[in-house]
Amino acid sequence: MSRTLITSALPYINGIKHLGTLAGSMLPADVYARFKRAQGIETLYLCATDEHGTTTELAAAEAGLDPATFCERAHKVQHDLGRRFGLSWDHFGRSSSPQNHRLTQQFARQLWEAGFIEERVTQQVYSNTDRRFLPDRYVIGTCPHCGYEAARGDQCENCTRVLDPTDLINPRSAVSGSTDIEVRSSKHLFLRQSVFSDKLRGWIDAKKGQWPLIVTSTALKWLDEGLQDRGITRDVAWGVPVNADAWGPNPDGQRPDVEGLAGKVFYVWFDAPIEYIGVTWEWADARAVAAGRTAADDQDWERWWRLPLAADVTYSEFMGKDNIPFHTVGFPTTLLGVNEKTDGKGVWSPASNAPWKLVDELKGFNYLDYYGGKFSTSQGRGVFMDQALELLPADYWRWWITANSPETSDATFTWEQFQAQVNADLADVLGNFVNRICKFAETRFDAAVPAGGEWGELERKLAADVDAKLAELTGFMEGREFRKATTALRQIWVLGNGYLTEAAPWTAFKADPQRAGVAVRVGLNLVALFAALAEPFIPFTAEKIAGAVGAPFPGRWPAGGVGLLDQLAPGQAVRAPEVLFRKVEDAQVAEWRERFGGPEA
Ligand code: MF3
Ligand code: ZN
Repeated sequence: MSRTLITSALPYINGIKHLGTLAGSMLPADVYARFKRAQGIETLYLCATDEHGTTTELAAAEAGLDPATFCERAHKVQHDLGRRFGLSWDHFGRSSSPQNHRLTQQFARQLWEAGFIEERVTQQVYSNTDRRFLPDRYVIGTCPHCGYEAARGDQCENCTRVLDPTDLINPRSAVSGSTDIEVRSSKHLFLRQSVFSDKLRGWIDAKKGQWPLIVTSTALKWLDEGLQDRGITRDVAWGVPVNADAWGPNPDGQRPDVEGLAGKVFYVWFDAPIEYIGVTWEWADARAVAAGRTAADDQDWERWWRLPLAADVTYSEFMGKDNIPFHTVGFPTTLLGVNEKTDGKGVWSPASNAPWKLVDELKGFNYLDYYGGKFSTSQGRGVFMDQALELLPADYWRWWITANSPETSDATFTWEQFQAQVNADLADVLGNFVNRICKFAETRFDAAVPAGGEWGELERKLAADVDAKLAELTGFMEGREFRKATTALRQIWVLGNGYLTEAAPWTAFKADPQRAGVAVRVGLNLVALFAALAEPFIPFTAEKIAGAVGAPFPGRWPAGGVGLLDQLAPGQAVRAPEVLFRKVEDAQVAEWRERFGGPEA
């Protein structure tokens, strides 16, 4: 039996996430995880906050907190919102965890000792007033090309030219505004990515046709342009410290410059993906503690990551398109480099010689926009997770976002389209069906699944049609084509509605109660089926629907075939749920457009 490991790109700790972040990583990962669990497959769905770096330091300072306290609080907020959105994480960890510190430092040491890390002296801007180095984008000045006065040291927002901080005229610190800044030399570590070009290309080439085109083409474009070696350290205080004092010599016998590297941390994009492994360790530790042990054994988490223990694991990653290079080139380079070193040398842990797994299935997404423009925290444009839940229950959002998943191109959110679609799909098609048939069973069949009566032509045709659509839906889910999956699911709901309209138990009831009983029984079985199929998408409602007809929750993903519409025992109690979905009103749309910005914003 195979196992499934699922991760979604780790959200930055800073700020509450908007619907676009949900659409491009966390929500589809959750839909897939729920689907895999429903198939009875051992599944681990993990996520964490991405906590390090200058942006975090500055956000903490703005909040008047030290970074550790800031992150602790912000993590709780994101964890809570995720849960309320029904994100079924097995663990929601933190890239600042001790586990990730240990792994990041261990990997860096192995990469150095294997000769894949190099020291270089770089020129960095230092602010005397702030008493710190400034990352490029925290140096502001006048653009030498267009004269724009608030250009950032990495790029001019006005003319889009790529800049070096030393190009700026009248440079100043974005932290304090101080002009008392200077250029200083600073020792840094570079990961020799170029060494792995051919290996990476072979690996990506083999994924062509299997991964979305946007993923393989983005990765190959990077490789075609020639891989640059990548700086993996920063002059920042908040991060995983560079532990060069613990490293042995590299293959040339060179020891790291411990003094020159003192006080530096790893670049956030170096340690963040390692947290995919870190969070697996955190998960295992949390489980061990819950079971009364002090910590997990290494094997408890390594069985998801290291071969041969993890040979039966399929690892799936979910992310937005801006993340693709880091996951197809950056992180794989780290792992390949570590694998080369551990191979045959036994430097690490009981399961040594065991290479780390690379990703098997990589799903990349385009962007979800808001009225064709970007969501913006600073301009208060668009809907953020906390606000969304104030307006409507999670399932409305989950359904709309999945049904409009930006899989093959960018998608855009508009209140008008949102209203039209949730009203039609959820209220009219699904909600109505469930209420209509359950109410009728309550009033006419003693609130129980009717017994007796034989299927006719209508039922046989329905079963065949539903079975065929189910096969389609399952195929889309396996292929992680979620937009198409919602279409297939909606079609199954429509088949149910069509059946009830034709079978019309409400009119058949007087003349032929047995015939009406068959239709009601089939209708109630459809309700049970809808609950099982809807669970990955709209889990909160699916639970209510299952409850109405006493179906198990969460149920099994049906295999299809004989018996698909014959799951409920005759006599099983039925209770109509309260209204499942209230329609979104025009007045609400007008108000929300005003509040969050409309097309004109
Ligand atoms: N925080 C990053 C973003 O939101 C994603 C990090 S993914 C990881 O773009 F793998 F690096 F963790
Ligand atoms: Zn410019």
